[in-house]
Amino acid sequence: MRLKDKVAIITGAGSGQGEAAAKLFAREGAKVVIAEWNEENGKRVEAEIIANGYEAIFMKTDVSNEENVQSVISQVVDHYGRIDVLFNNAGIGFSARSKYKMAPLLETPLEDWNNILGINLNGVYLMSKYTIPIMMKQKSGSIVNNSSLNGLLGVTGADAYTASKGGVVALTRVMAVDYGKYNIRVNCICPGAIDTPMIAEVLSIEEIAKNYEAGPLGRVGRPEEIATAALFLSSDDSSYITGLIMPVDGGWHAV
Ligand SMILES: NC(=O)c1ccc[n+]([C@@H]2O[C@H](COP(=O)([O-])OP(=O)(O)OC[C@H]3O[C@@H](n4cnc5c(N)ncnc54)[C@H](O)[C@@H]3O)[C@@H](O)[C@H]2O)c1
Repeated sequence: MRLKDKVAIITGAGSGQGEAAAKLFAREGAKVVIAEWNEENGKRVEAEIIANGYEAIFMKTDVSNEENVQSVISQVVDHYGRIDVLFNNAGIGFSARSKYKMAPLLETPLEDWNNILGINLNGVYLMSKYTIPIMMKQKSGSIVNNSSLNGLLGVTGADAYTASKGGVVALTRVMAVDYGKYNIRVNCICPGAIDTPMIAEVLSIEEIAKNYEAGPLGRVGRPEEIATAALFLSSDDSSYITGLIMPVDGGWHAV
């Protein structure tokens, strides 16, 4: 029960890594807020957690919309009175290929660039902007940002995505520095390839899948393996850790 009675907001908790974290955090005693823009998935995860005897609430959220974010955070505070954990996990990537182009810079329309950064980077900024004042009053809180190995390396073919994730890495460091004095810790996970709906399309291409599997541990990761890292960084088990940029990637960053 490493999050006993803690209130934990998880963005993008209707699928993949966020869903795995929501289920794990709930099992560890947290009251989980599923901040997700996909209503069907958000409600499904909420129902599954409650059916297992744990606590969760779905709040429809678009992390890129300031008004919406502000209203969600104030509803959480009205409902629970506090926020202990914020897992900034929501993101848009390769599965959105038809919506926003994942491409090198020269082939990336400005509109797609803005939309990708608007979710992946502005989303972290907005959720944090309205959560940190609550944590400052409490004099405690843990924020975990979900970046990507793309935030650390120049992986070709997804330049806006890569820039957004690099921004999340840099923002993590400065948030840790600025808000440490309020006992707010801010850390960052950089997942490698994780088997979620986001990369299902690319994983179905054998050549790409083989390449992803060529890292030191010889396989892609499972969403639960990001959830356990997020749990560690969210809980008091990591009470003296802040500003950490943690690859969880089967060793790819070491290659
Ligand atoms: N899967 C990978 O290989 C991989 C690797 C590195 C980093 N990541 C990052 O991990 C995070 C989780 O991705 P995943 O792999 O679980 O993918 P996923 O597509 O399964 O889950 C992402 C979730 O975020 C939600 N979301 C997207 N935009 C949103 C918005 N504006 N507001 C609220 N919710 C929104 C989606 O509806 C979805 O439920 C993302 O930030 C992603 O960039 C993924």
